[in-house]
Amino acid sequence: MAWSTGPAVSLLLLRGTRCVVLMLRLPGVYRPQADTWLLSKAVREAGLRPGAQVLDLCTGTGAVAFAAARAGAGAITAVDTARRAVLAAWLNTRLRRLPVRVRRADVRHLPQLPRFDLVVANPPYVPGDPARGPTRRAERAWDAGPDGRRFVDRLCAAAPELLAEGGALLLVHSSLCGEQATLDRLRAERLKASVVARRVEPFGPVLRGRVGYLERAGLIEPGQCHEELVVIRADRLPLPPEHERG
Ligand SMILES: C[S@@+](CC[C@H](N)C(=O)[O-])C[C@H]1O[C@@H](n2cnc3c(N)ncnc32)[C@H](O)[C@@H]1O
Repeated sequence: MAWSTGPAVSLLLLRGTRCVVLMLRLPGVYRPQADTWLLSKAVREAGLRPGAQVLDLCTGTGAVAFAAARAGAGAITAVDTARRAVLAAWLNTRLRRLPVRVRRADVRHLPQLPRFDLVVANPPYVPGDPARGPTRRAERAWDAGPDGRRFVDRLCAAAPELLAEGGALLLVHSSLCGEQATLDRLRAERLKASVVARRVEPFGPVLRGRVGYLERAGLIEPGQCHEELVVIRADRLPLPPEHERG
């Protein structure tokens, strides 16, 4: 749940933690909202071992990294491509002395990273009409190509290289861009994948502005005005003993 108190600051009540947290949100940085909270809740329920190594991809304000820190993570790497998001996440986590390192990087071309116990991601996933032309700066936090899968597919492909043995990915997106497609992609990468959380949300202003395209593209039914957010969990299972010997 979030109350926006102007363009620069959001007052965030982190659900389930019984704490109110003031987070800085610079202009243009994604305002934490239903998908942020659904993913944060999944992080709290993931059974993180104390000291776990966590990677937060597309961190925005750092709200999900914050949830991971509160859940007991030992070290968190938070990544975003937007300079203002990197600055906001750095300030929000540094002010609280959380064990978060913020890096500016593009999730489609990630630098060499170690493996993590938990990888969390709330990537851009809103489908957009390609006829609209290039994505404007403000839309980069959610625009994800004609089918909404530009980032989700990259993350599914990258997951096996990012996860330690026994590690898990928690990925949130809208069912509009294909829950089954994500499950299939992750299973094709030999990960054990399932939906661990769902939440129906009415269309916000961005989707309301795209209803015509979404209907023409067959991504929603005529008259549809809600989406379902899903958190998908994918586990990298421990290797069987014969692989360990080899
Ligand atoms: C939907 S927002 C999620 C923000 C935050 N994790 C949350 O849950 O509130 C997506 C974020 O992805 C970032 N982003 C967009 N394209 C990216 C890219 N190519 N690489 C890394 N981050 C990107 C945006 O700047 C934005 O902060």
